[in-house]
Amino acid sequence: MADMIVKGVHGCSREDEYVSPEDPLIRERLEWFRDQKLALFIHWGPCSQIGIDSSWALSDGDSSWSRAGMDWESDPDAFRRQYHDMAKCFNPIRFNPGKWADFAVENGFKYLLFTTKHHDGFCMFDTKYTDYKITDESCPFHTHKYANITKEVFDAFRSRGVAIAAYFSKPDWHCPYFWAEGMEKPIGYNRYPTYDPEEHPELWEKFTEFTHGQIMELMEDYGRIDILWLDGGWVKPIKKTGIRMSELIAKARVLQPWLISADRTVGGENENYITPEQCIPDHIIDVPWESCVTIGTQWAYKFSDTYKSSRTLVHMLVYTVGRGGNLVLDIGPQPNGELPLEAISVVKGMGDWLKTNGDAIYGTRAVDAGDSDKVMFTRKGESLYALIPIEEGEALGEDVFIPLNEKIQTVKCLGYEGGLPFESSDGGIKVSLPGELVGQNPYALAFEMKY
Ligand code: GLC
Repeated sequence: MADMIVKGVHGCSREDEYVSPEDPLIRERLEWFRDQKLALFIHWGPCSQIGIDSSWALSDGDSSWSRAGMDWESDPDAFRRQYHDMAKCFNPIRFNPGKWADFAVENGFKYLLFTTKHHDGFCMFDTKYTDYKITDESCPFHTHKYANITKEVFDAFRSRGVAIAAYFSKPDWHCPYFWAEGMEKPIGYNRYPTYDPEEHPELWEKFTEFTHGQIMELMEDYGRIDILWLDGGWVKPIKKTGIRMSELIAKARVLQPWLISADRTVGGENENYITPEQCIPDHIIDVPWESCVTIGTQWAYKFSDTYKSSRTLVHMLVYTVGRGGNLVLDIGPQPNGELPLEAISVVKGMGDWLKTNGDAIYGTRAVDAGDSDKVMFTRKGESLYALIPIEEGEALGEDVFIPLNEKIQTVKCLGYEGGLPFESSDGGIKVSLPGELVGQNPYALAFEMKY
């Protein structure tokens, strides 16, 4: 956990360059966004069948890490064909969107991010722009009642009050206008287009139209979308690889005026919040942000993966919220359509903790109320909350010290009735714990204080 806390932020735009949107509705939606705190990320697709992470093994430029541990064909084109062929046997007939959504609600997730299309280009929705999709005849799942997986997932979560974020990769390593066959030399197959868009503007324009078309399908036919989460920040307006994003977002907002746009790492008016990944910043960031973190060791399903503990999840949530952000926890569903049991079980531990302590998390704003990098503070209405992560095996004593620069009148511990006695001491207060807690080892304590 400690190794996740980083100086600055990792893999995202800089907070001091953040551009606040002018549209009052989007500003309002960003306040809503900042209230949510916890999201479920789902990376899913045919690649789950062999337990490799989404897409990256396709890129020769990334093969040193993304094909590690695989005895893959020495011919990378053959490997790419085999990867794409996995769509022909993807048949997750135990997929039950209502079960996923119940799990999310039960454990305190407020919005969902779902991979409608990852970099590999496989569409988990019924697009008319490619056959490489879940509803194509070549995919055995196309006859299933839940065949249009994105639609089913969005409807199930939305109907249970969970907000919807559509993950969509701008780079598409299956689209002939991005990785153009016969044009792979000298650039080769890596995360970028195989050709120079400055030299082939007509091809790049086709790619731009293809992307607009697919995103507009998601905007038109999939109900209310709260957030459009655009991955692949290397597709951006430099060297003519822009895809007229402002025009696209404006078109999308005609249908979905409330739409928050997270054009990751691109900066400017379409990056409405910033998105560090696999890390937690070491200071309060005062612009809207969210950090996405895997519960296991990769985004998509991995056989025999190891998962973070419930305690670690709670600590990540406490540190993230204490620094002003939202936490997005990622799970890769199994090839049969079910969530891995172990992932369910560690999340449940966090969900139970939230049932008692959620007041100190949801709808709050981070505040800098005491000098400690181990105790986090949040505020909501008249209440100031202190959140104290407890390490595994650390039995609580009779009292606990809360470093605090503010004068307060009352303290209670969430989950326990009544005010607690406390004494002011140097740089904070010493609070007597409820008797039932002494000797216990909870994941974290949350105190509510009033002025
Ligand atoms: C990174 C990964 C990508 C993943 C995303 C989720 O950009 O490269 O595979 O989907 O993070 O945040």
